[in-house]
Amino acid sequence: MRSLKILFVSPEVEPFVKVGGLADMVGSLPKELAKLGHDVRIVCPLYGSVKRVGEWRARGESLGVDVGPNAHWARTWETTLPGTAVPVYFLENDDFFARPEVYNNPWGSFADNDVRFAFLSRGALALCQQLGWVPDVAHCHDWTTGLVPVMVNTTLRNTELGGVATVLTVHNLEHQGYSPARMVEFARLPWDVFHRDALMTNGSVNLMRTGLFHSTKVTTVSPNYAEEVKTASGGFGLDGVLKYRAGDFIGIVNGIDDESWDPARDQTLPANYSATDLAGKATCKAALQARFGLERNPRIPLFGVVSRLASQKGLDLLAEVLVPMLDRMRVQLVLLGSGDAHLENTFRWANDAYRGRVGVHIGFDGKLARLIQAGSDFFVMPSRSEPCGLTQMYAMRYGTLPIVRATGGLVDTVENFSEGWNYGTGFVFHDATPEALINTLGWACATYYDRPQEMAGLQQRAMAKDFSWRRSAASYVDVYRWAVESRTGVYPE
Ligand code: ADP
Ligand code: GLC
Repeated sequence: MRSLKILFVSPEVEPFVKVGGLADMVGSLPKELAKLGHDVRIVCPLYGSVKRVGEWRARGESLGVDVGPNAHWARTWETTLPGTAVPVYFLENDDFFARPEVYNNPWGSFADNDVRFAFLSRGALALCQQLGWVPDVAHCHDWTTGLVPVMVNTTLRNTELGGVATVLTVHNLEHQGYSPARMVEFARLPWDVFHRDALMTNGSVNLMRTGLFHSTKVTTVSPNYAEEVKTASGGFGLDGVLKYRAGDFIGIVNGIDDESWDPARDQTLPANYSATDLAGKATCKAALQARFGLERNPRIPLFGVVSRLASQKGLDLLAEVLVPMLDRMRVQLVLLGSGDAHLENTFRWANDAYRGRVGVHIGFDGKLARLIQAGSDFFVMPSRSEPCGLTQMYAMRYGTLPIVRATGGLVDTVENFSEGWNYGTGFVFHDATPEALINTLGWACATYYDRPQEMAGLQQRAMAKDFSWRRSAASYVDVYRWAVESRTGVYPE
């Protein structure tokens, strides 16, 4: 079958700029698609904080982007995803992207996010025109790129880009991007489309809804989440449009970059290890205990957390059970995260109140995240909602057993331990309550102390799981071909 030209338009891409798992996905799926022979290219904004990893080249020609009353300009930079030939283009425009943050600063979301991301969306398409590279598919990611499909369907319909199929991947329905109606004019889109398709509510445009409505196909990052979001309780107000698009909507579980996330090769760790030789994991645990001034004891179970501190992640439940957990169980806890100020303070308090048993680092630190994954025995992820979740998969690959709530992609990726049955890769609970969480933490702790053989079995099964992109990349290719067929009427043989 012929190879495809696939444009990724994304607000984040690892290793250049990352807020959460979206960046990991956009930084790793294209590698696998390229291995399958497809021509994949990525476009992302040049925020002030973008890390200039690898070789960068400024492209000679400026890029005119048709937004606003007088066109805006971008300088464009080209590099590649490290270790691949996949081009990554960055759009530089100081008005929109000089600031270091992606979506918000500590005072809230940027008031001009609508125009910033309208610029990204039009800019990515304008870049294709400038390159003379017409993709078969534009693959968009979350609300920031929700305007790409409507642009292709309307103002670009009679250009060379008019036949481009669009695929929108929902990474998180909780963030939908409301923008003032002025955006429609700024993005030079026809008003009537927004009225006709009911994309405006109370004078604002919902960018996610716009994307869901206009893209050729819609995907989300796990099959279970795809079901949840079609219900009133899980749809964040968009279940109606998702049900309407149900025939064009599927869930594909994320993979992980298993070359980068490999305990046998991870250069950031103090020691490497594998399922057959776990000695290095003990070294990592000792290093993690030392890093946080915890008691250097290999026989105390260590619970790790690496997370955005947002209500989605359910870490308020962990905050609620901290005292009983630490008072009743002989355990250690390490947490790396940032976000909600109240949660940050609670965990800082725990760090001071339980010195030697609790270690907390408030911030974002990719290297420390890996040490926590490697050095912990358990990984705690009590998410209220979790479209896919990558950290539980990183944990399993590093031989660290996830303790998760049964929601979204956690259901698709973690198998609950069945005592005596040699089954399971982690510990799963159902209710988003402190009681359910502490009971499950207690269960994990008891398993650690009382059933070491079963612990070892869990660990071996977790490490043996294949979470690579190999399978899911093929599913994305199927979606791309399906989208091209729907868009053009011709299946791309
Ligand atoms: P989400 O995208 O909802 O935050 P995921 O599990 O999909 O959740 O991905 C989170 C990604 O961000 C993982 O790569 C994780 O290691 C990383 N991460 C989250 N918080 C931090 C932090 N404080 N420091 C470093 N990395 C972090
Ligand atoms: C979002 C979700 C997370 C998912 C990630 C990558 O940030 O919250 O569950 O793993 O996107 O798709």
